[in-house]
This record gives sequence, C-alpha cells and structure tokens, in this order.
Amino acid sequence: MKVDIVSIFPDYFAPLDLSLIGKARTTGTLDLTVHDLRTWTSDVHRTVDDSPYGGGPGMVMRPEPWGQALDAVVSDGATLVVPSPVGKPFTQADAQQLAGLDHLVFACGRYEGIDQRVIDEARDRMPVREVSLGDYVLFGGEVAVIVIMEAITRLLPGVLGNADSLTEESHAAGLLEAPVYTKPLAWRGREVPDVLRSGDHGRIARWRREQSLLRTADRRPDMYDAYPPDLLDKWDRKA
Ligand code: ADE
Repeated sequence: MKVDIVSIFPDYFAPLDLSLIGKARTTGTLDLTVHDLRTWTSDVHRTVDDSPYGGGPGMVMRPEPWGQALDAVVSDGATLVVPSPVGKPFTQADAQQLAGLDHLVFACGRYEGIDQRVIDEARDRMPVREVSLGDYVLFGGEVAVIVIMEAITRLLPGVLGNADSLTEESHAAGLLEAPVYTKPLAWRGREVPDVLRSGDHGRIARWRREQSLLRTADRRPDMYDAYPPDLLDKWDRKA
C-alpha cells in the first residue's frame, strides 16, 4: 500500500519508523512518505494560514498550498483521508475498507481547519473521507493519522504473525474481548480464573463468550444493542 501524509509538522510522524509499522515499511508492505505542506508555499514566510472570512477566532489553512500539495501527491485511484472533529466516526469497518486500497493520501489540518474549497474540489476528482476519532478536539490531524495508520497497517497481509488474532479481536466480532491473563498463576493475592487452567477448551470458549457479552453490555451498551440477535446462541444469557 502507498501512503502519502501532508502536514506542517513532518516530525510528528517519527513513531511511524518504529515497531510493526516500521517493519512493514522496511519489508515493502507499506510505502509511506511524509511531506511538509510548506514545500508548496511561495512567500518568504511560507505562510499556510489566514484569518477566517466571516470573523471568529483562530486561523484557517489557505487553499493554495493544499491544492498544489494534492496535485503533486495524488495519483489515479488515490483516496484522500482528512481527519477532522467534524468527520464521520472512524471505525474498525473503515480501517478494513481503507486497508484494501492501493493509495491513501492524508491531509493534516491545523488551527480551525482547512479552507472548505480544498475538500470540495478534491471530492470532484477522488473519493474523500473526513473522519473523526471521537467527540473531542485535538490540536490537529497528525496524531489522528498515526492512530488511523496503526489500525490500517495491522490489517495488511503479513503484518501480524498470527491471523487468528485478527478474527478474534475486539470490534471485529461486534463484541469486546474477554479479559486475558498470563503467568504467574497468583499475583498480589489474585489468581487466574480456574476455568482458564482447566484445559477444557469448550468451557474456556464458553467463559470467554460470557465475559465478552457481560463486558460489552456494561461498557458499550450501544454495541451490545446493535449485536445481531441471530448471532446469539442458546447458551448466551442476555445480560
Ligand atoms: N483533528 C482535531 N480533532 C480531531 C478528532 N477528534 N478526530 C480527528 N481529527 C481531529
């Protein structure tokens, strides 16, 4: 997958050299380039922002550098992703869809956002996704892009060693995962639940399923209510 990120803070993306994203870049699974938006400014101050038409606080990103940046990095078949607090909520399903694409371009807004004409003009020539990570406001899109890139990269073929961890994980199945334990058996007076040491795989699967349902009902009633009833089996107790 090819990824281009445009930002006024390219240094924000140093973590994308690390861990499994770094490895995906080294092996060629991920071809990622970070661009400085100021490359596409033409004045001596390399200005990227100006005051908003209509008044109000803060600054808005000017359209000219963004237009030139997108002209330079967008390819035929690219999808533009714009993290923004006014975007649609980013979900695991979005991560799965984006992971299946060949070329993603991320536009990182700062200040009060990017001049709307940049997004409208881009929409005339490519798919554009404005996505929000949640109902809170960040300084800009940079951290959101790192989050989105983690969610996508782990879905790319060959990135995770054990494909089972993808099929069983939280959100993919529409329920939160059960709690997990490792050694030692007893720690600070707390023991690992007996059932997980029983060796009885049927009982373990049943316990995990029950814990998933209880956790989801308690923490994410929205997710629990949306869970398709036909996926509940006769052993599932409605919490
Ligand atoms: N930029 C600023 N706030 C954001 C949010 N909540 N999600 C995505 N991008 C953002």
